[in-house]
Amino acid sequence: TDGGTLYERIGPEALSALVTRFYERVAVDPDLSPIFPADLTATAEKQLAFLTGFLGGPPLYHRTYGPPRLRARHLPHAITPTRGWAWLACMDAALHDTPQIGAAEARELYAALSRVAAHMVNTPDDDG
Ligand code: HEM
Repeated sequence: TDGGTLYERIGPEALSALVTRFYERVAVDPDLSPIFPADLTATAEKQLAFLTGFLGGPPLYHRTYGPPRLRARHLPHAITPTRGWAWLACMDAALHDTPQIGAAEARELYAALSRVAAHMVNTPDDDG
């Protein structure tokens, strides 16, 4: 429906399905899997909590972990432009794999995440 927050328009079940599908992609992505833990259970739980608040739902991540400070939390990981695009490609694929998310909501979510992903890049590609 129109009008509510993106969280309300997508709904918790579809958001959870999206996050599951996203990390299924990350787990087999050759650029991303090396920098992620082998067991993505906790990572996926944090991401679902973060996105819930980010999209206008209850601030689940803040309540448990405090301010996200996402760029700082990503500094221990080499986030190259290549990995930024790979992350977004996994998200795009996951959105297409989650048909309960409507096209307008998928576009808005992807646009918002593109901005955050660009902000996370902290390392140049080593493509000499
Ligand atoms: C954590 C990679 C973009 C949200 C992480 C972790 C890695 C990572 C390696 C640590 C996983 C773990 O140890 O559990 C990347 C890469 C990105 C990216 C390569 C490409 C640009 C984003 C974006 C968001 C995001 C766009 C938000 C929309 C998070 C959150 C965590 C996390 C919430 C958990 C932080 C915590 O430990 O509390 N990311 N990330 N990431 N990422 Fe990203």
